[in-house]
Amino acid sequence: MPTILIIEDDPVFARRLARNLGLDGFMAEVAEGSEAGLRMLTRKSYDAVLCDVKMPGMGGLDLLSHVRRGEEREVDPDLPIVMLTSVTSVETAVDAMQRGASDYLTKDAGRPEIVVRLNRALGARRMADENRRLREAVERTGEFGELVGDSVEISRIKDDIREVAPTGASVLITGETGVGKELVARAIHRESGRSGDFVDINGAMLPDDTMLQSELFGHERGAFTDAKTMRKGKLELADGGTLFIDEVGDVSRDVQAKLLRVLETMTFTRVGGGKPIEVDVRIVAATNSDLMEDVKVGGFRDDLYYRLNVFPVDIPPLRRRRADIDPLARAFLRNAAARSGRPVPEPDEGAMQLLHGYNWPGNIRELRNICERLVIRARGGSVINEEDIRNCGIGETADVERIVNFPDTGISIDDLERKLVIEALRRSNWRQTEAARLLGISTDRMNNRVKKYGITHRKWRVNK
Ligand SMILES: Nc1ncnc2c1ncn2[C@@H]1O[C@H](COP(=O)(O)OP(=O)(O)OP(=O)(O)O)[C@@H](O)[C@H]1O
Ligand SMILES: [Mg+2]
Repeated sequence: MPTILIIEDDPVFARRLARNLGLDGFMAEVAEGSEAGLRMLTRKSYDAVLCDVKMPGMGGLDLLSHVRRGEEREVDPDLPIVMLTSVTSVETAVDAMQRGASDYLTKDAGRPEIVVRLNRALGARRMADENRRLREAVERTGEFGELVGDSVEISRIKDDIREVAPTGASVLITGETGVGKELVARAIHRESGRSGDFVDINGAMLPDDTMLQSELFGHERGAFTDAKTMRKGKLELADGGTLFIDEVGDVSRDVQAKLLRVLETMTFTRVGGGKPIEVDVRIVAATNSDLMEDVKVGGFRDDLYYRLNVFPVDIPPLRRRRADIDPLARAFLRNAAARSGRPVPEPDEGAMQLLHGYNWPGNIRELRNICERLVIRARGGSVINEEDIRNCGIGETADVERIVNFPDTGISIDDLERKLVIEALRRSNWRQTEAARLLGISTDRMNNRVKKYGITHRKWRVNK
């Protein structure tokens, strides 16, 4: 049975309301006035509050703001609070909602109306709790769960995570787009045993001082024109937990100095507020640019760099740890199939070889997207072949085009040559003499490249 606290200075009205709530299946208690109300709220946990607006001493609206700001340590700032007004006043109603009231009612509201509004406030609260619980469950498993991979690189990263997680040291994660930087950051938070939340902020969203301040520090109500309610900044939200600064290389030079100072003192004030707030936050930052290079050319402050880079974790691109392609592809195919209730399709050898040989400029995110597309396209069939993979735009040709169009994908001449050789072999149905002719090179040279790059194909084994 939901327990409701009625905060109301008129005892006659309060008792009648309490009796009615009792008839409608609620437990109701009465606090005569706001001081008594706050006292009762700190002593016991209620499911919701019905609070009069006009009361002597602290009025209902101030009590509401007080609770929402989290100023009463023992009182849940998200507690459902429905305001009671004696007359319909649009201004009061708007003010109440802006201060974070769950709803407002006029005192002449009938029993059914009160029940509906109270249940709605309680339902919204349950929904918010449920969402948070689900989100946390997803973060623990599935999507943000285990790092998949068999390569020595992934094992090393897992060792690094286990080693650094419990220490509280700042971690700087580097790697190309889609390699799993955020996944690793979340893993560090999870393994750290820190009880607070994982909160992320994007360096590209801190272009100037104002943004930095409102994002990181939050603001008091009325701090500026749009500040209708108090808002906690990311630092405060991450108290006891982890602040993940993504794309830290994009933080503007001006803002870097401020950021450094905050990270060093872990103390700040909300915009428009005087009280310094001290937090305990673990910092994990990520970047896909070469920060050391930025430091050298003066784009990134070296002191901030060293403050962040206490423990570096570098995640190599997928093409430098091809041993992970197979287990990752299978895991993604399995997940995508499970989500859509389809059978898990199995890539055949030719398909696997294409996946293996591809350059993966978008890294694991790209592999994951391809696998999801493959599951959708596998028309009930359970085998994925070369054709299916090519239909997803993956293949040596696609790769070569990509390199020609984007010469800055960090690919070497050897990579390129290897791809050309494989593509020529594929087009000539894996006959080396024919492939050599296609490329205008001698059979010996072809044979030499095949050995150099360790290229194999099942057809060669059959011919032997
Ligand atoms: N080792 C892994 N095992 C399973 N899934 C992974 C792994 N690494 C990355 N992923 C998945 O790949 C996708 C991209 O990872 P993530 O978002 O962490 O990359 P990122 O490095 O932060 O990319 P960006 O630089 O673009 O922000 C996510 O869906 C993530 O769950
Ligand atoms: Mg990311």
